Amino acid sequence: MKKVDVVLGIQWGDEGKGKIVDVLAKSYPVIARFQGGANAGHSIHFEGKKFVLHTVPSGVFRDGTVNYIGNGVVLDPVIFKEECEGIEAMGVPVKERVIISKKTNLIVPTHKLMDAASEAAMGKGKIGSTLKGIGPAYRDKAGRIALRVGDIMADNFRERYDTLKKKHIQYLNQYDFEYDAYKDDDAWFEAVEYMKGFRFVDGEYEINGYLNDGKAALAEGAQGSMLDVDFGSYPFVTSSSTTCAGVCTGLGVAPSKVGKVMGIFKAYCTRVGAGPFPTELFDATGEDLRKKGFEFGATTGRPRRTGWLDLVELRYAIMLSGVNELIMMKSDVLDDFDTIKVAVAYEVNGVKSDRVPFDVYADIKPVYKEFKGWKKDLTGVRSENDLPVEFMDYVKFIEDSVNVPVKIISLGPDRDQTIIR
Ligand code: GDP
Ligand code: IMO
Ligand code: MG
Repeated sequence: MKKVDVVLGIQWGDEGKGKIVDVLAKSYPVIARFQGGANAGHSIHFEGKKFVLHTVPSGVFRDGTVNYIGNGVVLDPVIFKEECEGIEAMGVPVKERVIISKKTNLIVPTHKLMDAASEAAMGKGKIGSTLKGIGPAYRDKAGRIALRVGDIMADNFRERYDTLKKKHIQYLNQYDFEYDAYKDDDAWFEAVEYMKGFRFVDGEYEINGYLNDGKAALAEGAQGSMLDVDFGSYPFVTSSSTTCAGVCTGLGVAPSKVGKVMGIFKAYCTRVGAGPFPTELFDATGEDLRKKGFEFGATTGRPRRTGWLDLVELRYAIMLSGVNELIMMKSDVLDDFDTIKVAVAYEVNGVKSDRVPFDVYADIKPVYKEFKGWKKDLTGVRSENDLPVEFMDYVKFIEDSVNVPVKIISLGPDRDQTIIR
């Protein structure tokens, strides 16, 4: 019997999960998304092309893969259709490669309006949501009123949709917010028709069946550990479980079937949206990171906040998910820096600490260790032996500090710019 290996973002999202899942998908017949929705933007570069995936797992460009959208995902049919049509236009038989759990929850147009109304009302205190309806969709799921993919085939689907919309209108009317609750209905139902071209499955049986048949699966996380609804910087989080625990509930696999847990991080840090970011840089160095790393949101285009690597945060995320292998991304972005800093501890309200504090408004000052930059272009390096000694010192320090080996080093956005150790 095979297991489900896991790739998780262990910072604030956008670590490069799409690239790495695409690289690893060569070795996995099944790739599965287990949480989140189109708030995710996972970029893949190959053969001079770039594609950003939002809902479809990042194995879709590999021949012979099953790309499974699990029950833990919230799926927007309109975005899904647009995305799949884009993939089809590249000559990829997307309908053969993608399957969807009947228990996947649906995002309806009013979910997005609810997101917008709630964010607008929060003013300065807003979360910085991607406004894809994620929070409202998970709220309906927990509130037991949601529509799911399997419901699409029911005779009374339209009736149930209308009932849900009435509830949403009641909710929206609390806000001083102008909206048209009906304008996107036609596009939504058209997209639902399109979805019928895909196989809707009893996902938990399907994925356990693959494992029993000797087919290994790779679970592709969305967002990152610090955006987890329980352990992230609440309320500045997303609404799903982004840690390894989410794999079990989001796919229907038992903890004993989870294999390797790979934690993916950038050689520095970024965050989009509001909330604490202890190592954030507000100076020219931060701007340099943004420019060199091309740090603009793959879903919203917003500039990402940038800062140094944070080992307090990384250790926390590794603990939460039992990460046993690390993948370091975007190392090349640091190529030109004279000095590179890493936070090894915090001073929280003036007291030294190695913990992420509960209070998201706590005054956190990072305690930094400095490294000499390697000052060499790494984008063309293909062998570990050709990596500069200063770079290897940096990697070794991270490994020793968190006690987990770095198994993959990424040196550019392309599939080929990857060193597997
Ligand atoms: P994801 O959400 O975790 O899949 O990450 P995103 O796709 O949102 O953001 C990562 C960005 O970095 C994308 O534009 C990738 O193409 C790019 N990228 C991934 N790995 C590397 C790398 O090693 N070096 C550089 N320079 N860019 C990378
Ligand atoms: P990937 O999978 C980075 C952030 C938003 C906001 C907060 C809540 O590409 O790494 P939501 O739309 O969920 O209500 O937003 O979470 N966020 C992400 N940040 N990468 C993502 O996904 C994100 N998905 C949500 O910016 O701060
Ligand atoms: Mg992203």
